[in-house]
Amino acid sequence: MINWGIIGAGSIARVFANGLRFSKTGRLEAIASRTAGKADALADLFDVVKRYNSYEDILADSAIDAVYISTIHPAHLEPVVMAAKAGKHILVEKPIAMNAAEAAKMVDAARANDVFLMEAFMYRCHPQIAKMVELIQDGAIGDVLVVRSTFGYHAGFNPDSRAYNRELGGGGILDVGCYPASMVRLVAGAAAGKLFLDPVEFKATGVVGPTGVDHYTTATLKFENDVVAEIATAVACNLPPDTVIYGSEGILSVPNPWLPSSPCRSARTALPLDTPFPASTLLLHKRGAEPEEITVAVDRDLFSYEADMVGAHIDDRQAPAASWDDTLGNMRTLDTWLAELGVNYA
Ligand SMILES: NC(=O)c1ccc[n+]([C@@H]2O[C@H](COP(=O)([O-])OP(=O)(O)OC[C@H]3O[C@@H](n4cnc5c(N)ncnc54)[C@H](OP(=O)(O)O)[C@@H]3O)[C@@H](O)[C@H]2O)c1
Repeated sequence: MINWGIIGAGSIARVFANGLRFSKTGRLEAIASRTAGKADALADLFDVVKRYNSYEDILADSAIDAVYISTIHPAHLEPVVMAAKAGKHILVEKPIAMNAAEAAKMVDAARANDVFLMEAFMYRCHPQIAKMVELIQDGAIGDVLVVRSTFGYHAGFNPDSRAYNRELGGGGILDVGCYPASMVRLVAGAAAGKLFLDPVEFKATGVVGPTGVDHYTTATLKFENDVVAEIATAVACNLPPDTVIYGSEGILSVPNPWLPSSPCRSARTALPLDTPFPASTLLLHKRGAEPEEITVAVDRDLFSYEADMVGAHIDDRQAPAASWDDTLGNMRTLDTWLAELGVNYA
């Protein structure tokens, strides 16, 4: 079993801590927060004995094998490099960094210290994504031509919030635009028999608000295999959380691409161990045939699959769900998107 430590006791840390209870490969050993009371509050929820008030202290604990870094995105780089130097394997929340240059420093640190590193794109660890890739590669919809993917939410304007404050890494592109960007790169890659492709063309438009971050934006991408994609994100409005793949012989829809089978996402307390986890559904509509529902059964929470993705690949130092090159390519795509809108965090 992998003994996990959590660094940063915020809202997503509670979700991951709950997910770990259903993991087949890991268990939660300790929680660290720099904020008085937060490690204790989270640890109390999940009966975790070890609580630390500094990141240095949890990293000095020899019982910890891997850390989940769930600080806000401008505060990812420092603990990732610290953890790598301490010899801990690392799962770090998305977006892995504020830009590709920071992400490259993390990859360098993981390589230099021979530790696992993965960006926490939990959606990529769910079995429905493996099924989606399999259908694409089996030619279920013929040649993939167009992909549309969106993730946007209504945060309610507050210049001091994580969604809107530039110092806190606000804006939709970094927070949730990273998902559709990574999804269309995955789909284009699957169509080419690869884990991902990076776009050869990228054009964006959008609206940047008074705090200097993107409120809502769309972008179009083209890949070397002539797959074209349309992505959108927002913190100012809800966008349909779906991904639709249009092929020469049909359409494949992923109606719930980001948070399938995830009761841990909304749970405020430890979920009972006999919690049922809902299956997910893909919709396949082959040209000239009746639409078909494809059910993908699960036996764990989405966030347990993420922890188990780490467990399955820890010896390889990177996982196919988000390899280092894939993550670096996604961050370069986000860099381009932000630059086209004139958003600058420096
Ligand atoms: N995968 C998902 O489904 C998902 C969902 C939501 C968020 N996320 C990602 O997870 C990360 C955290 O999001 P969250 O909503 O959990 O954030 P949050 O609750 O606002 O904060 C998380 C932690 O970040 C640290 N932090 C907060 N403000 C800071 C500041 N000004 N300077 C340095 N550190 C600060 C704190 O760590 P201490 O406890 O040590 O004080 C805090 O507990 C983000 O990168 C986000 O994109 C992922």
